[in-house]
Amino acid sequence: MERIVYVNGEYVNESDAKISIFDRGFLMADGVYEVTTVLDGKLIDFDGHAKRLTRSLNELDMKAACTDEELLQIHRELVKRNNVEEGMVYLQVTRGAADRDFAYPKDANPTLVLFTQDKPGLANSPAAKTGMKVISIDDIRWGRRDIKTVQLLYPSMGKMMAKAAGCDDAWMVQDGLVTEGTSNNAYIVKDGTIITRHLGNEILSGITRAAVLRFAKEAQMKVEERSFSVTEAQDADEAFVSSASTFVMPVVEIDGAAVGTGTVGPVASRLREIYLDEMRKAAI
Ligand code: PDD
Repeated sequence: MERIVYVNGEYVNESDAKISIFDRGFLMADGVYEVTTVLDGKLIDFDGHAKRLTRSLNELDMKAACTDEELLQIHRELVKRNNVEEGMVYLQVTRGAADRDFAYPKDANPTLVLFTQDKPGLANSPAAKTGMKVISIDDIRWGRRDIKTVQLLYPSMGKMMAKAAGCDDAWMVQDGLVTEGTSNNAYIVKDGTIITRHLGNEILSGITRAAVLRFAKEAQMKVEERSFSVTEAQDADEAFVSSASTFVMPVVEIDGAAVGTGTVGPVASRLREIYLDEMRKAAI
């Protein structure tokens, strides 16, 4: 069945949606995006995603396509029109269409596109019970990973490298230290302390990360925001990742070495439970 998608002010069937071939998102990856999860037909942490979108736009001197309130209405309308109970809303803003030039065009209007993805069973994912296996790969992405741009080719290659190695995902490593997963933030747990890389230009400031760290602190768990190596991760008691679409997802193996007992640990399980409970309550 065709989805209803949103393109520049209109709700249309997906096969009728059109974007210019001159769009800078298409030609130059000159665009930013957000992925907001839907549970029980409601949006999880919409405000966090809207705030990060504004920051990404500002960092790139890009115009907003509309207000946050209008964005919220579009998200809700798409969820309703497509009967999404569990899944995602993908949003992309680009600098718009203009004749190809490296310099930013002066008069282009931003392109705004949103679509939904149905993901029934997202919250009950079997992977949360078995855990994921990851490999480590060099982080050769650009230096502004704090901006959520649509240049996702290397993360995509990373997932393919993981797949080829019989694993689920890759953790990226720079100067001997883990930055983040291909599409998630990375954590380890040692002697009850949750360790995750500090924020900076090297990683995306995950909206899920912020919520998970808040809940961990509220539950009196110790949190350290600092970098760690693959060896430290392999020697940890637990490891996990977080993202809008995976919530908290345990990692049980890194480069072939079991983390802790090689099974899903109590800290990751508890954080996943708290995150899902609290975020469902706060969903709008
Ligand atoms: N990815 N780091 C990277 C590189 C990411 O692409 C993502 C999100 C995250 C986690 O951010 P958040 O908690 O706000 O989802 C960290 C999304 C889900 C995606 O590209 O599908």
